[in-house]
Amino acid sequence: MGKENIWLLVIWISLAKKCTGFSTTTEDTVLSNTTEWITDLSDIQSKFSLRTAEIPDDDLCYIVPGQKNTISECQFNLEAKTFVVIHGWTVTGMYESWVPKLVSALYEREPSANVVVVDWLERASQHYPTSAAYTKLAGRDVAKFVQWLQRELHYPWEKLHLLGYSLGAHVAGIAGLLTNNKINRITGLDPAGPGFEYADEQSTLSPGDALFVDVLHTNTRGSPDRSIGIQRPVGHVDIYPNGGTFQPGCNLQNTMMMIATSGFQNMDQIVKCSHERSIHLFIDSLVNKQQESMAFRCGSKEAFNKGLCLSCRKNRCNKVGYGTNKVRSVRSSKMYMRTREIMPYKVFHYQVKVHVFSQDQLSFTEQPILVSLFGTEGEKEDIPFTMPFLNSNSTISFLLTTDVDIGELLMVKMKWDKDSYFSLSDWWGNNKFRIRKLRIKAGETQAKVIFSSREGEFAYLVRGGGDAVFVKSKEEESSQKAERRHKLKMNGSLFKGNAEGTSPPK
Ligand SMILES: *[C@@H]1O[C@H](CO)[C@@H](O)[C@H](O)[C@H]1NC(C)=O
Ligand SMILES: *[C@@H]1O[C@H](CO)[C@@H](O)[C@H](O)[C@H]1NC(C)=O
Ligand SMILES: *[C@@H]1O[C@H](CO)[C@@H](O)[C@H](O)[C@H]1NC(C)=O
Repeated sequence: MGKENIWLLVIWISLAKKCTGFSTTTEDTVLSNTTEWITDLSDIQSKFSLRTAEIPDDDLCYIVPGQKNTISECQFNLEAKTFVVIHGWTVTGMYESWVPKLVSALYEREPSANVVVVDWLERASQHYPTSAAYTKLAGRDVAKFVQWLQRELHYPWEKLHLLGYSLGAHVAGIAGLLTNNKINRITGLDPAGPGFEYADEQSTLSPGDALFVDVLHTNTRGSPDRSIGIQRPVGHVDIYPNGGTFQPGCNLQNTMMMIATSGFQNMDQIVKCSHERSIHLFIDSLVNKQQESMAFRCGSKEAFNKGLCLSCRKNRCNKVGYGTNKVRSVRSSKMYMRTREIMPYKVFHYQVKVHVFSQDQLSFTEQPILVSLFGTEGEKEDIPFTMPFLNSNSTISFLLTTDVDIGELLMVKMKWDKDSYFSLSDWWGNNKFRIRKLRIKAGETQAKVIFSSREGEFAYLVRGGGDAVFVKSKEEESSQKAERRHKLKMNGSLFKGNAEGTSPPK
């Protein structure tokens, strides 16, 4: 069975290219703008299961559009918000193991809510291109369902939040497109790429499908038409954790370890580790409210990796997952963040900026550097970093992350490690740079701190040598004010009320 899954995944990827044209050939009547069809409930094939916090893993009560009695039978709470969870393509024709996990996490965060799981398993377990084309019919079913809730029960649109994974993200998008009023929020969890990367907005999740559309992209490796997750931004806020291509902890080594410890029964999860990480990042944001991750808007992955994008001005940063602030930013803006390998995924982001001097002309590439951070709350020693370039009289900027909350930074140590080319001349300390100051910007607090050498005017970064030690310099008082201002802003207007998910975006 494990082998079969891998095989099917390969098929999925290889079919991607062939099916790029399907969306334009599907009947246009599906998207006709007459509203009569939406009240015709006779052809709905999807099922809507209202799950409970007590039994999150089984379909015990279906809400049937057109049968009002099912509302009370299933104990649908008309006063509370409703989450509609939509699964993606499935090899086995069964729900994947993440479904009850997400249901439980939603109830943990919002105990009075209704969590409805859409069952379109029949259509979702065909050959990938067929299932991909069926997103239109499944989306139509979901549109009819929510439209009926609204028409029959006056259930408010602003209480609706659709969450779709993979193909399910496009199902949610199509549902949002077809309803007469705008759904409050759609969360796309690594929306499927094959067949959708070049499709029009009517066939994919897009910003017009809800008042607020937020998207996590976690498995976008490869050329655009072969990537499992869609590469282009399709929402108001599009977050690319770890660059969006591939997630930490999902490499072959970890995969082998998981197989060794748990056998092949969780093969679907192992194969789709990065794809499914989008769901677990969202679950993390629901259950670990105190450790909310932050993402930052950036022009490119490369600029982000240089630490150049840790600004929160003008909505450039945002919380990740459930608490995402509803900003309807400019089109195609991508946001980036780093994460840990396991839950809780949060890390703290720092930009380190340093000017290195030397008398002699020195030039290195790919140098191993170790940085240690010491602060009021904790410390993290020997964070490894590969410096792409190390040249005389140049300014270097790089991104450093820790999984430890260090608090206010007090001291920084930096060490130039030996690499395999370390030679005799290095013993004489010929390869060394002088550093006067170190500037660090913390993404999470927006604090900017300037450090100066602990001993003398300069600290020395010596190849294979000891630590260059820096302490907080007196110049940075003005930046503490900036940090206080930022904290006030985080408490106040910027993020106020948004975690409730009810306030309309501006
Ligand atoms: C439906 O769309 C057509 C064009 O596609 C337009 O002419 C017509 O007015 C629309 N009808 C409604 C009810 O919006
Ligand atoms: C670097 O700059 C210093 C002066 O700031 C100068 O003395 C030194 O020669 C420069 N080094 C190189 C390699 O250009
Ligand atoms: C932010 O709000 C919390 C509780 O709502 C409060 O304890 C804290 O002092 C506030 N911080 C600032 C900087 O106003």
